[in-house]
Amino acid sequence: MQIFLDTANIEEIRQAAELGVIDGVTTNPSLIAKEKRDFIATIREICEIVDGPISAEVISLNADEMVAEGRKLAEIHENVVVKVPFTRDGLKATYALSQDDIDVNMTLIFSPNQALLAAKAGARYISPFAGRLDDIGQDGIAIASQCQDIISSYDYDTEIIAASIRHTQHVFLCAQEGIDIATIPFKVLLQMMKHPLTDIGIEQFLNDWKNANK
Ligand code: G3P
Repeated sequence: MQIFLDTANIEEIRQAAELGVIDGVTTNPSLIAKEKRDFIATIREICEIVDGPISAEVISLNADEMVAEGRKLAEIHENVVVKVPFTRDGLKATYALSQDDIDVNMTLIFSPNQALLAAKAGARYISPFAGRLDDIGQDGIAIASQCQDIISSYDYDTEIIAASIRHTQHVFLCAQEGIDIATIPFKVLLQMMKHPLTDIGIEQFLNDWKNANK
């Protein structure tokens, strides 16, 4: 499974990139706003740190404006993926951008039918939001897995990015379900590494070593 980092924080991206486990980065307007710095400069800097797909989201809701914005974002770096919200105009913009060989990540996906239409419109990536589906009492991973099943059943040049990942169990379930990509917050990446028995085991090894070498 590919792991993308879901953040616009440069320091988090640098630290995660050093581990050799990050295959890409996703951002969105909220994550960008949180950093309080220039959007284009931030995306450019991320592209210099991680050699993989870097999602940058359009703000416009009108198809023609989305296309114009998307073309500008695509000029930042060859690894930029244009993120487009799943709306009727978003589908129209995705189709137009994909015709120009610009990779699109259709986001704010919440159903397999939306995923199917996004793939047919030419989306290179599709982002079902698992955590937000959980928030309303649905099974977000199950829906993301249904999206994966549909996409995998046909020869679409499309990958599923499970997004809105809130905890380590979400990541495990994505991997167990065979979902292509999970995009995860930095804090979840750190939590994935921790296990109390590992800490206890290290302490025991070091104590035994010290005692044997007194
Ligand atoms: O990539 C989408 C993700 O950032 C949304 O996460 O926790 O705001 O639903 P969340």
